[in-house]
Amino acid sequence: MITGYGHFAQLAETLQWDETEIDFSADREAWPQLTDAENAQILGLIAGFVIAENAVSTQLGAWQMVATDDSMKKVFQAQIRDEVRHNRFFDLVAAEVACVPGDDRDARRDALRAHAGTELVDLFEERLPATAQRLADGHEDLTDAVGLYHMVIEGVVLVAGQHAMLDALEGLSVGLPGVRKGMELVLRDERWHIGFGSRIVQTADIGGDQAEAMLEQGEMAAKVWGDLITPAAIETAMRQHRRRLKAAGIKFW
Ligand SMILES: [Fe+2]
Ligand SMILES: [Fe+2]
Repeated sequence: MITGYGHFAQLAETLQWDETEIDFSADREAWPQLTDAENAQILGLIAGFVIAENAVSTQLGAWQMVATDDSMKKVFQAQIRDEVRHNRFFDLVAAEVACVPGDDRDARRDALRAHAGTELVDLFEERLPATAQRLADGHEDLTDAVGLYHMVIEGVVLVAGQHAMLDALEGLSVGLPGVRKGMELVLRDERWHIGFGSRIVQTADIGGDQAEAMLEQGEMAAKVWGDLITPAAIETAMRQHRRRLKAAGIKFW
């Protein structure tokens, strides 16, 4: 029998994929044919994902350390495995498709930082590690930390970016089928991550103040992509964020 959070771990097991099996040969040929505007948008989004997935994959261990039971801990471990794969996937796209210079992942991420907005870099490289540190030190509530990671970062920032990327790929003058395939697989993983976080928040029975904070954080965080994503994409992500908070039993509207 599966108890607690076990079904998320079981689901994760059925959704495993391997970024090295994705064929990027058509993408490599198409990339130099992108217009300047297309190149700027796709590269900007890739830069954001490279920075984001590197940060989440290295910070999520702090959440796993404070899991309240064994089934929750196992799910965090399954999630870390996904985030590490996402990190590898976006680095592979940067190296193989976008030909970002650099001998290793760190060097390529450094090269890409100039293409990402300072607010996005700040969220992932300052605020998220600060929350992880407070969690590790026992100064942060797990529910608030899940609120930032699963509800705000994954549920609003990353999902909005992933939908914007899929829309952008759809409208390109050339196809990037390998990038598209990987994006769809990443989004599929993120859906269960968000479901898992929503369950933790739901179980915690949070108060109005905590819920209000998660809503406000979502509104602020949705803007970190700057003009790489449309106001409509932000609004869609915020609508889903409100719906998830509401489904978690929070009533403030
Ligand atoms: Fe991810
Ligand atoms: Fe995730």
